[in-house]
Amino acid sequence: MEVVKTLAQALAPLCNTDEAVLADWIEVPKNTEMGDYAFPCFRLSKTMRKAPNLIAGELAQNLKVPEGFVKCEAIGGYLNFFTDKSAVAGSVLSRVLKEGDAYGSSTEGNGKTVCIEYSSINIAKPFGFHHLPSTAIGNALYRIYKALGYNTVGINHLGDWGTQFGKMITAYKLWGDKPVDDYSIRELVALYVRFHDEADKDPSLNETARAWFHKIEQGDPEALELWTKMKDATIREVKVTYKRMGVDFDSWNGEAFYQDKMQPIIDELREKGISKVDQGAEIVDLSEWNMPPCIIVKSDGSTIYATRDLAAACYRKETYNFSKLLYVVAYQQDLHFRQFFKVLELMGRDWVKDCVHVNFGMVSMEGGAFHTREGKVLYLDDVLDAAVEKTYEIICEKSPDLEDKKSAAEAVGVGAILWSVLYNNRIKDVSFSWDKVLNFDGETAPYVQYTHARSCSVLRKAGGRPEAFDASLLDDPESTALLKAIAGFPEAVRQAAEKYEPYVVSRAIMQIANAFNRFYYEQRIMADDPAVRAARLALCDATRQVLKNGLNLLGILAPERM
Ligand code: ARG
Repeated sequence: MEVVKTLAQALAPLCNTDEAVLADWIEVPKNTEMGDYAFPCFRLSKTMRKAPNLIAGELAQNLKVPEGFVKCEAIGGYLNFFTDKSAVAGSVLSRVLKEGDAYGSSTEGNGKTVCIEYSSINIAKPFGFHHLPSTAIGNALYRIYKALGYNTVGINHLGDWGTQFGKMITAYKLWGDKPVDDYSIRELVALYVRFHDEADKDPSLNETARAWFHKIEQGDPEALELWTKMKDATIREVKVTYKRMGVDFDSWNGEAFYQDKMQPIIDELREKGISKVDQGAEIVDLSEWNMPPCIIVKSDGSTIYATRDLAAACYRKETYNFSKLLYVVAYQQDLHFRQFFKVLELMGRDWVKDCVHVNFGMVSMEGGAFHTREGKVLYLDDVLDAAVEKTYEIICEKSPDLEDKKSAAEAVGVGAILWSVLYNNRIKDVSFSWDKVLNFDGETAPYVQYTHARSCSVLRKAGGRPEAFDASLLDDPESTALLKAIAGFPEAVRQAAEKYEPYVVSRAIMQIANAFNRFYYEQRIMADDPAVRAARLALCDATRQVLKNGLNLLGILAPERM
């Protein structure tokens, strides 16, 4: 932080200690009466051979108060600094209003590439509610890294390979009644279910399925065409859902893409003596690291998930030369990632240190509020639809005069769902309840969106914000708290990226929304004094801007009216 640097610079000559060390010591007191920043003198007492409180006292006397501060005071062993509130207010406001949509972004990632793999759904399978966290968290991280200036590559590592496609083709050939392109995901899933039902009665179907999968592997034109069309039909349909969630990808290279890229890996593992043959299969023994072996080639000669992941990681390094590769995948796959990361390490790929499994907990529906027959997957689209429908009812009640209720309901309903997995530490399991996610007064996206719309409405009614304003008039406690929350936003964006935790951004904007509402109720924005009114409108506009930017980083829309 720049302020800390300024303080450390001022202190360094008087303390005879390195600036960077001093910067590390500086704290932000919980109680603002103790100042905005505090410098503890305890560790100096050794080198300066004096009691900490004496050092603090001397520093207070000899230090020229740095720019941006009004005073510094010795309290006990601390030297406490008080910022110049009006200068801070002025600089925060002018920065937000000048940077606009770019407030919160930076150039720190320039020249670096981050690959982010997220969503990674399976072809011809339901796009289920359980895919929500990977999709939402991955998309938020993608947007956050992009804002920080990184070159970002969003990858949907499709599950588009495996024996199930032999089953799908068998089922289609037997029972298909229209061109395969016309199948919806639900219809494809029904075919798959029917296959299993019938194969219970007639096991020879499994043979047929194996033969069809073999044909796909061999590149048989008919098999390949059917497989491709099923894949295209799935992608076409999920793209609609992704669009609703503001999600996009730069690459749709799934497992099948690595089919011809595994042999060099298998060869290298053999040549380097990393893999060995065990009961006809090729494995990498990981017992030394207390892990079960990583299977590279099965005894029937087929490769598996892990082999494709090894090939994918190497391909991505070669193609993108990433400085980071993030895998946004559920914690159920922790072991898989530890295993294949270890294999990469054994292969001498030192860049494996830049590969991160960004794992997350489970989502479930509280109290079965959204009932499905046992074992049946909940489709994400159905959840989004239900959210939008319920939101529509709420909006009709709250804002009967709103013109475009439909698009507001879509933005808020979908936003509420995304927020449900973006507001907590990733690894926490989320139990989902409609009352919680759609509560316009709770810690929800609708609440933040509503606050954003409120700020828009204030500005609309005021006919916009005056160009000139005097920020020193924003000295009441509510304005001060709001300014402080807004000032912290860029740092929150940075931290969210560093921790791979979008919740740092969602918490930051929740804090801003709360602070704004307190300000809104305690201070009259449309004050009689035009100068005060101008300053408050500027603050209102800055709030609008930062809420919009924060929601955008999370992939959530910020409607201006709702
Ligand atoms: N398609 C997989 C699933 O639905 C997730 C893929 C995760 N990514 C990976 N590189 N293994 O379980």
